[in-house]
Amino acid sequence: MGFDTMIVNGRVVTATDTYASDIAVSNGKIEAIGNNLPRDNAKKIIDAANRYVLPGGIDVHTHLDMPFGGTTSADDFETGTRAAAFGGTTTLIDFAIQYRGQTLRTAFDTWMQKASGRAVSDYAFHCIITDLGAAQLEEMNALVREGVTSFKLFMAYPGVFMLDDASIFRAFRATAKNGGLVCMHAENGNAIDVIVQQALAEGKKAPKYHALTRPTTAEAEATSRAIALAEMAGAPVYIVHMSCNDALEKVREARDRGLPVYAETCPQYLYLSLENMDAPGFEGAKYVFTPPLREKWHQEKLWNGLKQDHLQVVSTDHCPFCFKEQKELGKDDFTKIPNGGPGIEHRMSLIYSGGVAKGRFTVNRFVELVSTTPAKLFGLYPRKGTIAIGSDADLVIFDPKRKHTISVKTHHMRVDYSMFEGIEVTGMPDVVLSRGQVLVEGNQFRGRVGAGEFIRRATYTQQ
Ligand code: URP
Ligand code: ZN
Ligand code: ZN
Repeated sequence: MGFDTMIVNGRVVTATDTYASDIAVSNGKIEAIGNNLPRDNAKKIIDAANRYVLPGGIDVHTHLDMPFGGTTSADDFETGTRAAAFGGTTTLIDFAIQYRGQTLRTAFDTWMQKASGRAVSDYAFHCIITDLGAAQLEEMNALVREGVTSFKLFMAYPGVFMLDDASIFRAFRATAKNGGLVCMHAENGNAIDVIVQQALAEGKKAPKYHALTRPTTAEAEATSRAIALAEMAGAPVYIVHMSCNDALEKVREARDRGLPVYAETCPQYLYLSLENMDAPGFEGAKYVFTPPLREKWHQEKLWNGLKQDHLQVVSTDHCPFCFKEQKELGKDDFTKIPNGGPGIEHRMSLIYSGGVAKGRFTVNRFVELVSTTPAKLFGLYPRKGTIAIGSDADLVIFDPKRKHTISVKTHHMRVDYSMFEGIEVTGMPDVVLSRGQVLVEGNQFRGRVGAGEFIRRATYTQQ
């Protein structure tokens, strides 16, 4: 009996090691790693010469098929996971939203229905809580037991998603006991609303006012408040989509004090800036998401944060809306532009290119940021996030030299523009496997719609 698949001649990269080795896969799992494995009876052999073999990417922040801003995000679980696969991402954690008056169970069931039978690769859920009474506090425990072990709370979007500090504190107290992890959207929504109303009254309605009405101080203040509430409750906190140095400083200080505080940033904050909002006509709407783009100097601070472990994860906050018909809903008023940008496909290449190819950090740190730490923080490790015997064979054969210019003309996301149009990256996935099955080979999709499975996650453990 031979192996189902062997990947030969590659350089295996994990968060800690880089070494030449073959990998043997059977029944969707990594069965052996070594240089003298018998190749004779392998059903399939993939030659990875001159390339890296990486653990599949894990994107812990996506919004597929999400009703928001009077419309629905343009990628569903089929098109979204497919586009992710083309970029080397093989596991997503998406957000199941509890709308006001609903149970958390309704949110979970609704998003399970959206994903099952559609996703081409594995997925899990965080639960967004917008209404937290005694019943939902109980339900948090039940969800944790069922593998939904993290909860997103909002300090922004008053009247839509925002929770008050008392509810946030209660949620932290619950996770301190049940092993969950709170993911925080940290912006001071009430202060921002005052600034927004003033801008509208002054007739400032163009897309760039979305960014100009959301100061970095609003993000830093909320980050600091979230950390304080978590500390009082004795709970960990994970700050999502961090965009600026002011907020990063709050996380760095908290981590220096030894608190279990973590943060992610996203490629848009590393590559784009406020200048993009000056695109001609209504084009600035392509970059309307929250937190907004910042002055360019923040980018290097964030890259440095990734290098120094002040930031632990890169996710995408993929929340795509087409420019035509969706972003255009806010043609006359920036507050009506659906908030979100597309990015699920290019995270791995953008971070490899800007991080490793540009000499900012090592290939091992890259793997840590895009796969291993996301897996560890969100209870997927060691099933996902590494290359080890017994782990799922979610593997990416990655060509560190291949160049690619990102464009709407070639991307696979179901959206009519690219935020990264014209940016040339160095480093692209050639072959992508999910639980041992080839998902992508060069330009070809070889996966199966519905092959993705829901992954029950373990509770949080300190990293
Ligand atoms: O603008 C954004 N980020 N849209 C998605 C929702 C969120 O806040 O993450
Ligand atoms: Zn958010
Ligand atoms: Zn988001």
